Amino acid sequence: MELKTLEKARKYEKENGEKIPASERPLFHLTPYVGWTNDPNGFSYYNGKYHLFYQYNPYDTRWDSMHWGHAVSTDLVKWEYLPAALAPEDDYDSFGCFSGTAMELPGGKHFVIYTGVKKAEDGKEYQTQCIAIGDGLNYKKYENNPVLTSKDLPGGLSPYDFRDPKVFKDRDGKFYCVVGGKDEKGLGELLLFGSSDGLDWHFESVLIANDGEIGCMWECPDFFSIGETSLVLISPQDMVAKGLEYHSGNGTVALIGSYDRTEKKFFKHSAQTIDHGIDFYAPETLQAPDGRRIMIAWMQNWDTCNTSGFKSRPWFGQMTVARELILKDGKLFQLPVRELENYRREKVEYKGVEIEGVKSLEGIEGRCLDMTIKVKPGDYDKIFSRFTMYFAKDEDHSSRINFYPAENIFETDRRQSGSRRANIHQRSCNVKDLGGEIELRIIMDRFSIEVFINGGEQAMTTAILTDPSAREICFECDGKAVIDITKYSLFSED
Ligand code: FRU
Repeated sequence: MELKTLEKARKYEKENGEKIPASERPLFHLTPYVGWTNDPNGFSYYNGKYHLFYQYNPYDTRWDSMHWGHAVSTDLVKWEYLPAALAPEDDYDSFGCFSGTAMELPGGKHFVIYTGVKKAEDGKEYQTQCIAIGDGLNYKKYENNPVLTSKDLPGGLSPYDFRDPKVFKDRDGKFYCVVGGKDEKGLGELLLFGSSDGLDWHFESVLIANDGEIGCMWECPDFFSIGETSLVLISPQDMVAKGLEYHSGNGTVALIGSYDRTEKKFFKHSAQTIDHGIDFYAPETLQAPDGRRIMIAWMQNWDTCNTSGFKSRPWFGQMTVARELILKDGKLFQLPVRELENYRREKVEYKGVEIEGVKSLEGIEGRCLDMTIKVKPGDYDKIFSRFTMYFAKDEDHSSRINFYPAENIFETDRRQSGSRRANIHQRSCNVKDLGGEIELRIIMDRFSIEVFINGGEQAMTTAILTDPSAREICFECDGKAVIDITKYSLFSED
């Protein structure tokens, strides 16, 4: 097999990434410099900047030969491309440098741990954990890679499904990493490994095992605390739908609970979907210097990425906006990072507007915006049955969100957005019963709509293909609603 070297990738992306006009990309959602991206990787704060690496195939807009692309930001909103950081050029990662994480080392170096995948002669893909150490620009793979192999796994775990290490330092000053594994029944286990120097690793415990309730293999684990509460984020494969909380296929789930540091075990008290939308997978978090827990995810999903149309673009895949995670009453809430507010321009505000039938409002339009809308029933004795907003609308296209107060259901629907594929275009979730009221924060970029419901209690993310010339927004109510709305354009260019 011809190895894809880093030098070749850097040359290729420089020549081809620069050719993509900024107008062809989202304004503030990171896309691959050129080609394909899936998971965010190595999301970390290092040397005064946020670093975001990403699963990357520069050579095509489809998944293949995973590299790590690289971007940096000072504010989590504007990203600047750096040259690719890792390429599948060694024997142990010749099939791909899969997902992983990064952290700053006490000595000032940037530490990266990732899954190296090798296709062996038997045709099977062996997954091991590997290290690279760098200065924020160039990364050198560790000479003793791989540092964790199937030999380090407890009995019965698969050597083909051992991936996505999340590294962190705990209170005892030791390094730990959580890696996804798979047992004989095909169910995920999160394995905890420890190290005193970050180089020499040993098995510590099974942090938590999947009892079969939530999907099969758990990809891209994350593990951290907010205050006294510990959280595990997972991206389970092969989920079975359960009410409106979990949909089938690839989902994302937050396990909320506690960590027993003696046993090194996580105990789940509750679980919830992280984002109820169509396009969200493989979230990764970091702790910002000011203590906030910030999450970024792939704004796609394996079950929905077969959307034609992106084929006509020189990139495929975007990251979500960076979101702050908050715990309230034992539940995980999320909101866009406050840094986004620095890019607000041209405020348009309405108060107490009655919506009966279809209505558009002067100045409420556009594709790159930050909008807050409060919806109330016009008549509390006769609450409307559906409130709808249309986005990215022109004569032939639109994407909608619907709120059904009688059922307390919120829905995203992009059936008319211009897709040529019959994959998932609708998704719903339950929202809190507020007597017909709802509050929405809506972040739009050229190719996406992210909705944060009732202060971030639920999020719903949808990527759209619609040509950016479709800019209309309008409201529809099949009864009477009253809305307050504050809308800003994001950046001045729209
Ligand atoms: C999740 C995932 C990871 C893996 C990577 C490969 O989307 O399947 O488990 O490391 O993508 O690109």
